[in-house]
Amino acid sequence: MIRVTAKAHPNIAFIKYWGKIQNDPSRVNWALNPSLSMTLKNAQTLTSIEASSNEFEFFLNGSKGLEDDSLKVRDHLKKVFMALQSKVPLHNIRVSSQNNFPTSAGIASSASGFCALTLVGIAWALEGQKFAMEWIAQNPRRFSEMCRWGSGSACRSTDGPFMFWENEAATKLNIDFQLFDTIVIFSKESKLTSSRMGHIAANESPLLAQRLKLLPERTKLMKTALQKSQRDPAQFLEFGKLLEEEALEMHQVSRATKVEYWMPATKIFIEALQQRDARNFFFTIDAGPNVHLISTKPILLEVSEILNGLNLDYEIWEDQCGEGPQFVIG
Ligand code: DP6
Repeated sequence: MIRVTAKAHPNIAFIKYWGKIQNDPSRVNWALNPSLSMTLKNAQTLTSIEASSNEFEFFLNGSKGLEDDSLKVRDHLKKVFMALQSKVPLHNIRVSSQNNFPTSAGIASSASGFCALTLVGIAWALEGQKFAMEWIAQNPRRFSEMCRWGSGSACRSTDGPFMFWENEAATKLNIDFQLFDTIVIFSKESKLTSSRMGHIAANESPLLAQRLKLLPERTKLMKTALQKSQRDPAQFLEFGKLLEEEALEMHQVSRATKVEYWMPATKIFIEALQQRDARNFFFTIDAGPNVHLISTKPILLEVSEILNGLNLDYEIWEDQCGEGPQFVIG
């Protein structure tokens, strides 16, 4: 093989993965609770592996990747090759990864990044895209599990539009419903506390035990509301209520460990939304200051009006639900 390229999409968590099992090498990035997500469509990471005459190299968005990132990528590929009992060498390959959305803009680039990397890694290990597709069709949960080794949330980018992750891997939910994600970006800077560190802190949060007790019921209710939303608009309102409750709780758990992801603009915007009674879109926030608004229709104009009225600086990324990763010619 000379070169293989794949694209994968990030996902937005409706029920959050926040806190993971620590210090157990057999359960790396293993969430303390099941989570539910929507895979995006427009945002994507394009990753390729190609033969190179140099040592192992990693390029991110056109520049040589940081040493730390390069080691993570190499280590991940090594695990994938070993899991497939492949003898292909790790040296003399170049991995290049490109995001079409601002990295660190509250869109999880690690999810799409590790999902695309795992897919090209499988093709490289099995020496053919066709073999990789066949293997994945036979082992979808194992594919998701392998993505998880790189980053927990990556295991939910292996399919779409809606995914449920429990224990080692994620599976597609049988829900056929179109949703939009309008992402309000208040900052494109890397967050001060990475989600990796946030998970470690969350494990120590005094609010975590209570959260873990409440989550099974909220997760069940949300799944049901989402399933029924297509036929019954009242169910989408119920879904929205649970979505916001969940996001606020995750950030409270975090705050209780002195990890704050919100910016003043995030707070101003969320408070303004909470004061509006009749809303047909609902917010959620991952580990960052940017806000995802989930709706059944495009809402760009409405949202811009609210933001302009608040005098906030922002950019918007419009997205919607999408599918799992694919090989591309590139
Ligand atoms: C807040 O998957 O980025 O977005 O497994 O350490 O790579 P690692 O963490 P990561 O955590 C995502 C946290 C979250 C919620 C979620 O996506 O479920």
